[in-house]
Amino acid sequence: MRILTGLQPSGKLHVGNYFGAMKPAVELQQQGEGFYFIADYHAMTSGRDAAALKENIRELAIDFLACGLDPEKSMFFRQSAVPEVNELAWILSTVCPMPLLAKCHSYKDKVAQGISPNHALFAYPVLMAADILLYDSQKVPVGKDQKQHLEVTRSLATKLNEAYGDGTAVMPEAIIKEETELVIGLDGRKMSKSYDNTLPIFGEEKQLRKLVMKIVTDSTPVEDPKPTENSTIIALYKLFASEADLQTMIADHQRGGCGYGDFKKRLADAYWDYFSNMRKRREEILKDPSYVDQVLAHGAKRAREESAIVLGRIKKAVGLA
Ligand code: ADP
Ligand code: TRP
Repeated sequence: MRILTGLQPSGKLHVGNYFGAMKPAVELQQQGEGFYFIADYHAMTSGRDAAALKENIRELAIDFLACGLDPEKSMFFRQSAVPEVNELAWILSTVCPMPLLAKCHSYKDKVAQGISPNHALFAYPVLMAADILLYDSQKVPVGKDQKQHLEVTRSLATKLNEAYGDGTAVMPEAIIKEETELVIGLDGRKMSKSYDNTLPIFGEEKQLRKLVMKIVTDSTPVEDPKPTENSTIIALYKLFASEADLQTMIADHQRGGCGYGDFKKRLADAYWDYFSNMRKRREEILKDPSYVDQVLAHGAKRAREESAIVLGRIKKAVGLA
């Protein structure tokens, strides 16, 4: 089984990225062949700071490795290290109806946020489909916000097969876990870099604890019972705490007598402890600056070999080879 996912190097990784995409990807490494990449071409659709891109690529590589990506088991590479992905994107463009792209939420959201609607932003899902189809990927772990992009990918695979014969493209499937498909942020909206409401995975302890204290709560007095439905504190605590601690937290909300400050402290402790092994691993990785470069070079070589086989098959099917 082939598993693939990509993450954009567009800023600090957060808890939403971890539970939505990275954790499932790391777990699936046991069940098949992982293709995990840094979507650097995609990141260019929303930023033009070359130095920042370079730095973010490196940071993302370090963080993903620290979070458990095993470069012995999986291929870990930069999207741009396999430039053939653009060739496949072009082929897919030729079977992609314009309205399929025009209805994508992600495009509309980004334009609404003020990002200029350039062609790459519009064609973003076609490149993403090429990422997936280039490796005959079967399972794609992502958060809910990528569901529509996976539907576009499946639609393009179908169109390619209809035009050039069954088996030209392999049909992928999104892996979206219900419990973690949409991690909420400090303000109760979807956790996202663009909303500035994230809990980063790595960072300085004092700062991370301070962020937890920023969670928006209601004004129920300390002695009164607190609502457990739609509680940001409980939703986040659920990700980090044991079942027993979660039940205690819920019971303490229902009983009253504990304030939000106390609940936030418990959440901050659980959040800090949860990533402690990953922080240690990150420190190890940082000791050898050449390690990351070696991993990415090796991953790119292997990924490129695999991509050549699939692209060769597709080019033959469409009459280019
Ligand atoms: P952001 O919204 O912060 O820019 P990205 O779009 O770079 O995050 O997302 C990278 C991966 O993390 C994708 O698979 C995405 O679905 C997942 N993801 C991002 N935010 C969340 C979230 N709040 N809950 C679950 N998964 C998420
Ligand atoms: N669009 C994804 C995001 O913003 C990143 C991505 C690019 C991706 N190519 C992919 C995810 C292929 C899964 C598969 O998060």
